[in-house]
Amino acid sequence: MHRPLVFASSDLPGTALNRLSDVAELRVAPGGSPLAADALIEASHDADGLICLLSTAVTEEMLSACPRLRIVANYAVGVDNLALEAAARQGIWMTHTPGVLTETTADLAWALLMAAARRIVEGDALLRRGAFHGWLPDLLLGVDVWGKTLGILGMGRIGQAVARRGRGFAMAVIYHNRQPLPAELEEELGARFVSMDELLAESDFLSLHCPGTAETRGLFQAETFRKMKRTAVLINTARGTVLNESALVDALSAGDIRAAGLDVFEREPRVEEGLLRLTNVVMAPHVGSASEATRARMADMVVDDVLAVLKGSPPKHPANRPSPKALLRWKESVLS
Ligand code: DGY
Repeated sequence: MHRPLVFASSDLPGTALNRLSDVAELRVAPGGSPLAADALIEASHDADGLICLLSTAVTEEMLSACPRLRIVANYAVGVDNLALEAAARQGIWMTHTPGVLTETTADLAWALLMAAARRIVEGDALLRRGAFHGWLPDLLLGVDVWGKTLGILGMGRIGQAVARRGRGFAMAVIYHNRQPLPAELEEELGARFVSMDELLAESDFLSLHCPGTAETRGLFQAETFRKMKRTAVLINTARGTVLNESALVDALSAGDIRAAGLDVFEREPRVEEGLLRLTNVVMAPHVGSASEATRARMADMVVDDVLAVLKGSPPKHPANRPSPKALLRWKESVLS
């Protein structure tokens, strides 16, 4: 009997991949850096399923070079690396991991927010270089978080989870989104819908939670930072492409905003040189969802979806919707 072939562009935490080996031949790329386009095609040209990371660009060209592919399961909630519509046209499911990483990513946004506000990384560095010579009235003065205004751009699941945490700090929460939330949800979150300009002008802490799309690419430029409070702290755990990184360096250097906390970068894994030299930015290497439990759950989700599609059922977490016609065309082309 034909055993389907699944290519995973990386090993995954937890034991989920073992469940795949029971029903499919599993090929796992050696760990390390993301696969280049030709290596990805080479490794998955005869695969029935592909499990990939957010650093793997799955393009239309790549899909066309892999005629057996039935599913691409993205080990991330963000789908900016996936050619969703091209895949749907070709009858290929694409899936992702929504919901499961919401709270973990919101925790990380808050970790960056607190660290940037209270200069934790600067303090850590000071201690390690032996420069702590005793308590001083003006040592590493930061800003209060409690009672301030928390702005959220993009009020999806993660934005809402960040907003909920703000209530514990008695913060006023304002947000901007494509659509305002239903009134009951706004009330539950204690959040007020504002225009983008109001969000920029009023936020003491502004946390970004919008997807990485053509529409949000380069949304924050020099003039955007100048619309913010000079005391504002900007947090980005969404996608690096939302910010023009060199404009951010200029804004942080010129004091247009006070500080930033970044988990994502415009050209990952490269980080703008100027950011590395600034002390008023706290950085993490894209670890928003990186808790042991969450990463294991994400692995379970991608494996469940691959297993479902290999069995001929629709996946539970689709990121695209191939039409019944496209699915049929795919079947006929593989059988012919
Ligand atoms: C995602 O899943 O899109 C996140 O960026 C991972 O941290």
